[in-house]
Amino acid sequence: MSALFIGLMSGTSIDAIDAALVDFSDQPKLVTTHSHPIDSKLRQQLLMLSQGCHNELTMMLMLDHQLGNLFAEATTELLKKAGVDAAEVRAIGSHGQTVRHYPESHYSLQIGDANLIAEQTGITTVADFRRRDLAAGGEGAPLVPAFHNAVFHNNQQDRVIINIGGIANISHLPASPQDVVNGFDTGPGNILMDGWAMRHLKQPFDENGAWGKQGEVDQMLLNQMLQDTFFMQPPPKSTGREHFNIEWLERQLEAHSTSLSAASVQATLCQLTASSITQAITEYCPDAQATFICGGGAHNQTLMRMLQAALPSHTVNTTEPLGISPDWVEAVAFAWLAKQTLEGKPGNLPAVTGASRPVVLGAIYPASTQK
Ligand SMILES: Nc1ncnc2c1ncn2[C@@H]1O[C@H](COP(=O)(O)OP(=O)(O)O)[C@@H](O)[C@H]1O
Ligand SMILES: [Mg+2]
Repeated sequence: MSALFIGLMSGTSIDAIDAALVDFSDQPKLVTTHSHPIDSKLRQQLLMLSQGCHNELTMMLMLDHQLGNLFAEATTELLKKAGVDAAEVRAIGSHGQTVRHYPESHYSLQIGDANLIAEQTGITTVADFRRRDLAAGGEGAPLVPAFHNAVFHNNQQDRVIINIGGIANISHLPASPQDVVNGFDTGPGNILMDGWAMRHLKQPFDENGAWGKQGEVDQMLLNQMLQDTFFMQPPPKSTGREHFNIEWLERQLEAHSTSLSAASVQATLCQLTASSITQAITEYCPDAQATFICGGGAHNQTLMRMLQAALPSHTVNTTEPLGISPDWVEAVAFAWLAKQTLEGKPGNLPAVTGASRPVVLGAIYPASTQK
């Protein structure tokens, strides 16, 4: 049976669809990758839907359909690039685009109709990964720690994996397999920095963190922002655009008495991401020796420097030396989660999500011809 799986990921940043073809014959091996563009109109509509808008049920159906087609298109491009036939692929794991995440009420919604993906690609598709965990009493997130543990665990080194997408999440992988693997969302990753860069630079993000580097971190504003209850809350916890958004930042700036340059606000937001991550490491992973970063935040040099400065005894690196490029870890994780589902194995870690038990995640949309 084929060991080829595809992972499709579109995260909080709505920057692109990450499509990864992965060979699981041995350790997961990235065969081919494809970054599929999301045009600015669709991005705007998804942002509007996420925030709540007029006629949102119709809007949701329209975007669910449009994204389903786009995920299928991303898959077709990926296979073309790889020179691999759809019949050789066992399944697709599609995360879908999150448009609501209210873990405290136990609901979360990812869209991108998997019926369309399965129908158009002819490949069995697994989707809707989060809601079974929610049904079992969990947060439905984060789901990547089980994958991080499966591929990045090392019995000689206590490791931390940090995924810095729109939101940042941590996985703690203790060296001893007897110790519990933990993980949770630490708060904003790039989401606030992206919003601020869009407002002041008219750019989707601060390329390599160059703008933030020009500013000065304002300690008072930083301390004020770190008082947000999410940072104080003990795990399990997860968050999203519903909580950390540009309005949140505006409220913080209004409450702050001195006015700052836009670059200094950016520097402070960058430090907020770094500090909330390093506080989580210090508090919940005191024995960790090494930190590995993945997600787009790994490209922000200012952020990487701040993380290393706050963790002097750690080696801070990207996941590259562990064998998976930081840009593709999440997409590979969803290929792995699809494999878990088809094999009838759980994909969640109850210690991470707070679910009452390990559960097999997702809904399976079979290919027209079973492989
Ligand atoms: N060269 C870069 N410099 C700074 N930030 C970057 C760079 N490339 C990507 N990013 C950041 O990473 C984000 C995308 O990261 P990603 O892991 O795809 O997040 P998500 O899972 O939320 O989609 C971008 O929105 C941007 O903030
Ligand atoms: Mg992305």
